[in-house]
Amino acid sequence: MKKLKRVCWHAFSSENRQAGSLPYFFLAKPAIQPAFSDMAATRSSSFDDPFYQPAEKFFTANSKIGLTFDDITLATLYSEILPRDTQLETSLAENLQLNIPVISADMDTVTESRMAIAMALNGGLGLIHYNMADKQQLSEISRVKFHVPGMIPEPIKFTPELFIADVLALIEEKKFGFSTFPVVDEKGKLVGLLSGHVVKPRYAGRKISEAMTPRAQVHTIAQKELGKDPIRRADKFFNEHPGIHKLLVVDDKDILHGLFTMNDVERIALERKAQFKPARDSHFRLVCGAAVSATRNAFGELDRERILNHVGALVERGVDVIAVSTAHGFSKGVGDTVKVLRDAFPKLPIIAGNVTSAAGVEYLADCGANAIKVGQGPGSICTTRIVAGVGIPQMTALYVCSRAAAKKKVSILADGGITKSGDIVKALTLGSAVICGGIFAGCTEAPGEVMEIGGKLYKQYRGMGSVAAMKAGSAARYGHEKADATRKLAAEGIEALKEVSGPVDRVLAQLIGGIQSGMGYLGAANLAQLGSVARYIRVSPAGQREAAPHDVVELKTGN
Ligand code: XMP
Repeated sequence: MKKLKRVCWHAFSSENRQAGSLPYFFLAKPAIQPAFSDMAATRSSSFDDPFYQPAEKFFTANSKIGLTFDDITLATLYSEILPRDTQLETSLAENLQLNIPVISADMDTVTESRMAIAMALNGGLGLIHYNMADKQQLSEISRVKFHVPGMIPEPIKFTPELFIADVLALIEEKKFGFSTFPVVDEKGKLVGLLSGHVVKPRYAGRKISEAMTPRAQVHTIAQKELGKDPIRRADKFFNEHPGIHKLLVVDDKDILHGLFTMNDVERIALERKAQFKPARDSHFRLVCGAAVSATRNAFGELDRERILNHVGALVERGVDVIAVSTAHGFSKGVGDTVKVLRDAFPKLPIIAGNVTSAAGVEYLADCGANAIKVGQGPGSICTTRIVAGVGIPQMTALYVCSRAAAKKKVSILADGGITKSGDIVKALTLGSAVICGGIFAGCTEAPGEVMEIGGKLYKQYRGMGSVAAMKAGSAARYGHEKADATRKLAAEGIEALKEVSGPVDRVLAQLIGGIQSGMGYLGAANLAQLGSVARYIRVSPAGQREAAPHDVVELKTGN
């Protein structure tokens, strides 16, 4: 026995302890040792298993505590995937695909047509809020659906009887970075083009009609000639007309409908080579969603007629998805609204929410929703947890909901609480997309004016459950009558400011870069793989401090 032990030890001595090699006395005959480079290197180890656990094990083991993004971190895994090669397409419903898994929230300080256009151009989706008249929401949808990339649909224009001085004054007031303008008559008919060469103080006293290029010499294209790919058409025009930098779009009656500039067209042609294509419908139009609430009539019953009429009109305008958005989605009102819509529009993708339980997901799925919003109280402007004492930290809520969603074959959307790209990576291990409010509220495309406070620029950002937003219409979302808004309401959101953060393109580029980086660390080529390979571990308070820059004087933030 003693001898055998020695032999065994020898068998595992250093030259025999290489990965994959067997002790020599187990080999029938002396083997030719494979070259080191041929050997399959270890890609996983059982030593990791008790620490870095897959979702099922991890969340079940932590079932007694609600966890959110910063409470956990993801373990790195063997990877052959470069961040830039990762795919971010996501499917929210059979007929609703996005090229990036990011949605801008249906909030009145976040998403109107400008934001929705920017989101769709980047491959995502914007949900137009409902704190506006139904008619206005319809026009917002139309603006997105009829947006021609590169074409300025409502260019700033002047009438011929004005003076160059008027033009200069408006440029000064609005801080325009351009000085060429179409000239139209009172009916909107094109009569000329005022070139930047003549918009100079020395010509201030001249009338526009004297200084403009007359209609006959202005280059135009008929709206109907733009075809399916207006940018390509405009690009071709600029190729064929060296020196011409503006192309005006008119209809049969010569009414002005838009303006292409060569700079914009060139920028878009470049963007086309970008990895993430715009999210479009089958008619090549940008995708767009609209939020509706479960409104009640004077008798306190669900106002089916109003809901059906309005959603019918939205569908006619080409809306791609309806979001039945309330704070408490696991409720009869929301379920009945979804059922009414599902019966009337069998193919229409429907998002519904918000919920934080498996039962809530199953209920809304059974009512006919395709995608369920998960999140109660995680939002940056939310006070639901403080005011109502309810809500579940987001990662636990997402896990519980994701199990029910898999069973019901619906997707889930992680709504609220996202402050950094790392949160998105964590959320996408369990959901199909994220919904962000605060991250986009400071963008150029968000509604609202920029204000300067103490030398810094801000935009307003408010919860849809704040008193101001409820007065503006969102009371139903929080289970209040609109009339209640004049009385003392239990607000579930605050009014706040966000520092101005520049255009959506720039903010999204940072977020997407972070998501791709996370996927690279996990060796996930696409979002489905991200969900299946993710391994989680809890982070101690010291670990959370370690995760952010520390013990340095920060000179520049990461972005
Ligand atoms: P973020 O964190 O992205 O959150 O700013 C946006 C999400 O927050 C939700 N929301 C609210 N929740 N009271 C709440 O409890 C509110 O007043 C409120 N307003 C918005 C909503 O789900 C949004 O997408």
